Amino acid sequence: MRRSIAIVGAGIGAEHLAAVCRLSDRYAVHSLCDLDAARGAAVAAKHPGVKATTDFDAILSDPSVDIVDICLPPHLHFDACMRALDAGKAVICEKPLTPSLAETDALIAKVRETGGFLSPVFQYRYGIGMAQLRAVQDAGLAGRPLVGTLETHWNRGAGYYDIPWRGTWAGERGGAVLGHAIHIHDLLTSVLGPVAQVSAMLATRVNDIETEDCAALAFRMETGALVTSSITLGAADDSSRMRLCFEGVTVESDHAPYSLAAKPWTFTARAPRLQSEVDEALSTVGETPTGYDGMFAAIADALDGSPGRQVTIEDGRRSVELVTAIYASARSGAPVSLPIGPEHPYYAGWPSEPLRDTA
Ligand SMILES: NC(=O)c1ccc[n+]([C@@H]2O[C@H](COP(=O)([O-])OP(=O)(O)OC[C@H]3O[C@@H](n4cnc5c(N)ncnc54)[C@H](O)[C@@H]3O)[C@@H](O)[C@H]2O)c1
Repeated sequence: MRRSIAIVGAGIGAEHLAAVCRLSDRYAVHSLCDLDAARGAAVAAKHPGVKATTDFDAILSDPSVDIVDICLPPHLHFDACMRALDAGKAVICEKPLTPSLAETDALIAKVRETGGFLSPVFQYRYGIGMAQLRAVQDAGLAGRPLVGTLETHWNRGAGYYDIPWRGTWAGERGGAVLGHAIHIHDLLTSVLGPVAQVSAMLATRVNDIETEDCAALAFRMETGALVTSSITLGAADDSSRMRLCFEGVTVESDHAPYSLAAKPWTFTARAPRLQSEVDEALSTVGETPTGYDGMFAAIADALDGSPGRQVTIEDGRRSVELVTAIYASARSGAPVSLPIGPEHPYYAGWPSEPLRDTA
């Protein structure tokens, strides 16, 4: 079935639009909505037939719209998602889904109450690298996860923060943990399952902003695996890396910052005699759509009754919960255990005070 989709927000929404236009057998674009009429029109004009609008209310009240795709700044996600769910639309929402577990749980309750659909955006999951890892795991060759290291070493300067909501607690609600490393942390939990405990150190060392731009994090996973995550926006270039040591195999991702899974990954069997079995599992992986193309295909499949590969609202909660735990640990200086429920002092949101490196 071909579904009508309206994209709201013409920043990263431009990439969403390009992806759904490539998937024209699954999606028909209703419109691109942006309050900045000139920006919306300029992006829409790149795709013949795509209409630009500034009227979000008209999208919500138009019964021909099946899906509303929220690509607005983070502080607007919750209200926009709620309104779209109330209007009976299937909803896609950019990361971070919301800046608090209370809001995320309210969205989950709304999805249940309305029988609706909400898929948060984590497009890094899609691509051959992740498909290879799944194939090796499915073949029973990975074994228990032991340790992992994650790197989000990117370069962001003053120009990046010209957009007023960025780098502020009020507009962005967090820094590199919430805005950048959230992707690699989603990859980690989608492969290794939930985090059980977090120890976090954060600092603002690169740019003159309120939110953190450097972090050293340690996670104990529910499986017992131990993982570290190093984050900075002060690297010379943009590079991401995930290296996971399982009992049977060591996996290293590609380093492409925005499409970590787009290229094949490296899989090294611990027992050299098993390398041929690992290679055989890898050879079963065919062409795999990457990034937003993979994400929108998975969402269309889910809406067509074949769920399984789309990002779920529970995945979105897990990512907000991890951010909550990281901010709680960094500010208290103590490890924080998950899961986090309504009794936690940060359940309704973490504090908005600037965090400064005092070293
Ligand atoms: N998944 C990714 O890799 C990725 C990459 C970049 C940004 N993002 C996320 O996407 C979201 C948007 O980021 P961005 O960089 O595109 O921001 P942006 O500020 O460049 O674009 C947001 C657009 O929303 C418009 N807008 C604001 N309020 C509106 C409203 N009420 N109705 C209609 N339009 C409105 C603005 O005019 C602006 O053009 C953020 O949550 C960000 O974290 C995700």
